[in-house]
This record gives sequence, structure tokens and C-alpha cells, in this order.
Amino acid sequence: MTILVTGGAGFIGGNFVLDWLAGSDELVVNLDKLSYAGNLQTLASLQGDKRHRFVHGDIADRALLGRLLAEHQPRAVLNFAAESHVDRSIHGPGDFIDTNVVGTFNLLEAVRGYWDDLPAADKSAFRFLHVSTDEVYGTLAAEDAPFAEDHRYQPNSPYSASKAASDHLVRAWHHSYGLPVLTTHCSNNYGPYHFPEKLIPLVILNALAGKPLPIYGDGQQIRDWLYVKDHCAAIRRVLDAGTTGETYNVGGWNEKTNLDVVRTICSLLDELRPRADGKGYAEQISHVQDRPGHDRRYAIDARKLERELGWKPAETFDSGIRKTVQWYLDNQDWVAGVTSGHYRDWLDRQYGGQS
Ligand code: NAD
Ligand code: DAU
Repeated sequence: MTILVTGGAGFIGGNFVLDWLAGSDELVVNLDKLSYAGNLQTLASLQGDKRHRFVHGDIADRALLGRLLAEHQPRAVLNFAAESHVDRSIHGPGDFIDTNVVGTFNLLEAVRGYWDDLPAADKSAFRFLHVSTDEVYGTLAAEDAPFAEDHRYQPNSPYSASKAASDHLVRAWHHSYGLPVLTTHCSNNYGPYHFPEKLIPLVILNALAGKPLPIYGDGQQIRDWLYVKDHCAAIRRVLDAGTTGETYNVGGWNEKTNLDVVRTICSLLDELRPRADGKGYAEQISHVQDRPGHDRRYAIDARKLERELGWKPAETFDSGIRKTVQWYLDNQDWVAGVTSGHYRDWLDRQYGGQS
């Protein structure tokens, strides 16, 4: 048996592949374009592991996908590949349309062609799992109930609009063609191998480097945080037991303001790696200009996933953020590769330009 994962050199996809192969011998074909966010150093422990086949390529490349699907005959395709950073989408939305919208369209078409020709039993067992986000639902006021699966779509950034478009394509491929799809909407992830453009890794690394810790606006924006391995477990559960055509919200029940998150990281670093001058890391906090159109609050109602499929997060925010800070302290090689940009040479070193 084989699964095809797209975007498996990124933060969540990379964690998913590592977790999958820690618990299963099922082959993983991992298709990733290696954008700036793709990092094969995340997968270094799988070097030489025959259960993992990395393929350098784009989800928009329908011919490549056709060949991979025909060769490996996966029982499922899990789509993690995306442009994922809101700030980048505001500066340059084009890549987000190319990958998140056009890429997903091409992936769906390649998968539909493959799935159409499967024998009946394989056809009904096949799954296309699309990894989406809570940001498609827009923003909440302080008194609003958390996002449930039937919340209206109201994306506010080019990133979330492109993810919303991809969700609609996935939904339509189910309704029009019967493709057995599953969609998950997760809140903010954090944990190992997180690219340091995102708040939590950025703050950890800036703090250690003695740099300012940038807080957009008043820092009172709220996110719900989920440890990445809990997200991976939720995806495995939905893949195993989800009802096709359904959507599942995934969240950690951990609503925090950005300022609280940053202060928590500072306290952990004060304990685990105190500053040489005896001062606290919170002194480095610096309020900067707000993100344009900044969503004020996200919160996820994950009760459907718990009720129907029995999934609950294993980590609290306190336990997950402690593990995360410790991971960054313990994995200076990975950090150095990312901060120096050296990780981008990995493809040539690893594959000699052959992939
Ligand atoms: P990421 O940016 O860390 O990784 C994305 C990966 O996709 C990278 O390895 C990149 O090289 C690859 N990629 C980009 N364009 C591609 C293309 N055209 N073809 C093939 N590969 C391509 O993102 P992430 O944080 O790991 O997010 C993964 C998925 O989860 C995304 O769909 C994102 O929208 C969703 N999501 C993320 C979060 C979060 O907090 N990070 C929360 C909810 C949902
Ligand atoms: O909610 C799920 C989403 O979470 C995912 O779909 C996205 O792919 C993922 O990037 C994340 O989006 P956010 O915009 O919430 O994450 P980010 O880490 O960029 O920012 C978290 C919050 O912190 C947000 O309110 C903006 C703020 N922020 C971020 C950065 C990078 C700062 O205050 N300062 C910063 O320097």
C-alpha cells in the first residue's frame, strides 16, 4: 500500500511524513516543489529509507502526477502543498493563486483521471484528503462562537481567499464527479521544523539572537494553537474514518493573544537559556506596524471530530510550547541551515541535480 503526500518537505507535511513512517511501513511518495518553505533537512532521518520516495515537482505538473499515480497506485492522496504565509500573500499574491488554486485544480484533475480507471473496490476505498485552514472562515469578534464546519466562508487575505478557492474546487470535484474527498480546517500549528517566518519560531530565534520580537499592532489578536503532532494525528484519523464529502475542523482549544504567546516563550527561554546579562527576554518585545486587514480572532469548534471520530488533542499549550522551545534549543543544525539559507543547497548535495 502507498500514499502520495504533497508538500511533505514543509512544516506540517514534513511532520506528517515523519510521524506516518514512525507508525507504519506503508510507502510514502512525497511530491514537493521545494519552494523557500520546503526543507529536505527536515526529512534527513529518512535518508536511505526505502519506505520514503521523495519526488521534486509541482502539483500543477499534471503529466508528472499522471506518471506518479500510474507507477505507485496510491490508495490515498493527501494535499499539504501550498503557499502558506499570510504576510507574503499580501506582498505578492501571484504564487498563492498559482499553487493554491491552479495547482489544486491540476492535482484534482490528475487524481480524477487516475481514480476513474481504478477497479471498483480500489475506487471506493480511495481518498483525497485536502488540508485546509480555519482562515477561510474569516475573523471573529470577542463574543462570537468558535468556527463550526457550517460557518460561512469569508476569507480576508489573498492567502485565505486562495485556500477558500481550493476548498471549493475540492468540494465541487466530489459533488460533480464523485471523487471521495475529505477536507480538514485546522487552526494555527506550532512545533518542530516550523519555518521562522511564522510567529512562534520567529520569536524563539530572534530572542536567542538578541533581536527585537516584533508584535503587530497591539498584540491582542487571538489565535487557537495546536501542536503539529496533534494535527498529524487528526489527519490520520480523518483519513481512516472520515465520511467522504465531509469537512472536519481541527483545533487545540487554546485561544491566546499574540502578546501572551510571546510572553510565554520569553519566560520559557528565561528558564531554559537565560540571557547573559540577567535581563528577561521580554525586554526585546517591540510593537511594529500592524498587518493590513489583520484578522482579529480565530477559534475552532472541534467537537465534530471528537464526537464522530474520537480525536482530541494530546498536548495542552503549556506542554506543547515547552517541547517546541526545547526542540529549537536542541536542534541548532536544522536552525543554522534555515537561518543561513544553506538548506536550499540540500537538493543539489543530496541528489546532485538528478531529482
Ligand atoms: P509550509 O509553507 O511550511 O509548507 C508548504 C510545502 O508545500 C513546502 O514544502 C513547499 O515547498 C511545498 N509547495 C509549495 N508549492 C508547491 C507546489 N506548487 N507543488 C508542490 N509542493 C509545493 O506550509 P505548512 O505550514 O506546512 O502548511 C501545510 C498545509 O497546511 C497548507 O495547505 C496550509 O494552508 C495548511 N495549514 C497550515 C496551518 C499552519 O498553522 N501552518 C494551519 C492550518 C492549515
Ligand atoms: O490559522 C491557521 C493559519 O495559521 C494557517 O492557515 C497559516 O498557513 C499559518 O501561517 C497561520 O497564519 P497566521 O497569520 O495566524 O500565522 P503567523 O504565524 O504568520 O501569525 C500569527 C499571529 O502573529 C498573527 O496574528 C500575526 C502575528 N504576528 C506574526 C508575525 C510573523 C506578529 O505579531 N508578529 C510577527 O512577526
